[in-house]
Amino acid sequence: MAGYHSPQIEVGIRLNTNESPEPLAGFTEQVAASLGTLALNRYPDREALALRRALGALHGVDAEQVYCANGSNEVLQAICLAYGGAGRSAAVFEPTYALHGHIARLTGTAVIEGERDGEFLVEEGELARVLTVGGRFGAAEPAIVFVCSPNNPTGRAEPRDMVERIVASAPGLVVVDEAYGQFARWSAAELLADNPHLVVVRTFSKTWSLAGLRLGYAVADPEVVDALLRVTLPYHLDSVKQLAGRIALEHLDEMHDRVARVVAERERVVHALRALGLRPFPSDANFVLFALPGRDAREVWRSLVRQSVLVRDVSGFPHLDGCLRVTIGTPEEDDTFLAALSAALS
Ligand SMILES: Cc1ncc(COP(=O)(O)O)c(C=O)c1O
Repeated sequence: MAGYHSPQIEVGIRLNTNESPEPLAGFTEQVAASLGTLALNRYPDREALALRRALGALHGVDAEQVYCANGSNEVLQAICLAYGGAGRSAAVFEPTYALHGHIARLTGTAVIEGERDGEFLVEEGELARVLTVGGRFGAAEPAIVFVCSPNNPTGRAEPRDMVERIVASAPGLVVVDEAYGQFARWSAAELLADNPHLVVVRTFSKTWSLAGLRLGYAVADPEVVDALLRVTLPYHLDSVKQLAGRIALEHLDEMHDRVARVVAERERVVHALRALGLRPFPSDANFVLFALPGRDAREVWRSLVRQSVLVRDVSGFPHLDGCLRVTIGTPEEDDTFLAALSAALS
């Protein structure tokens, strides 16, 4: 197997990994001032209870319904360790976040590759096909169905009725990856109360401006959380992270303000991409996928790198031939990107 690599190149403007362009105001100072309260000679709280309680309060659930890990990728790994494995399968709908299939395979889980429709949404007939294909691996397959909503790298959130349909028909666990959930009009967390086999995964890496902290979590039924804790290494979540995560949650309003600013800026970038004769796809996230009709996307990407701007070349993804993905940055970063793109096209 090849490892997973999102190319990181030294450039002036990085718009390739969907981070937030702005840090949380005053956050580092706040964490630094609180560090003295930690007994770092001792192991951290193995259950991370204070953090899980705070996240539970955010979502209106108990701490027993929250599982935390070092980034949402590690949450996804715990899900595959607990529910996947040899003889089991996981379904994904391509094009989608590559790590769902990658982590599944790393844990010996077979991957069923469904396809999204022309608008990059899950479609009913394809859902039925994917759930039946699974049958050849065993009666209750796929053991896991991954739904990325809003979907990376294409951008749109799945409508509520489709997620309800998936949850109603899937034979195993349904994992809705909401890494960009705060940009969507609804959250699958609203369906948790009636569906004990649903897991909603979130991260601090995007809207919370804390990609460097490596903190993600799942909200699910207590039985699912218990299963995830059983496959987790002891003391995997260090004391500093548990503290920092709780402090971040005090910045809720600021986070929502930033989401609103990113949305406004995203619409400006979409307009500008259209004005350059390109084809941006609708986005419910902090990035925009765009097609470059009649252009060699890889060559345009190289030209941007030469101008010290890094976006994500997704032209090798299934059905994304000729497409690039750009993260929404600060207005200044986006202006630099748009100028470089215009130069690359001319
Ligand atoms: C859909 C999706 N899920 C999960 C992740 C992983 O995020 P992290 O491990 O930083 O929480 C990403 C990061 O790009 C993502 O786009």
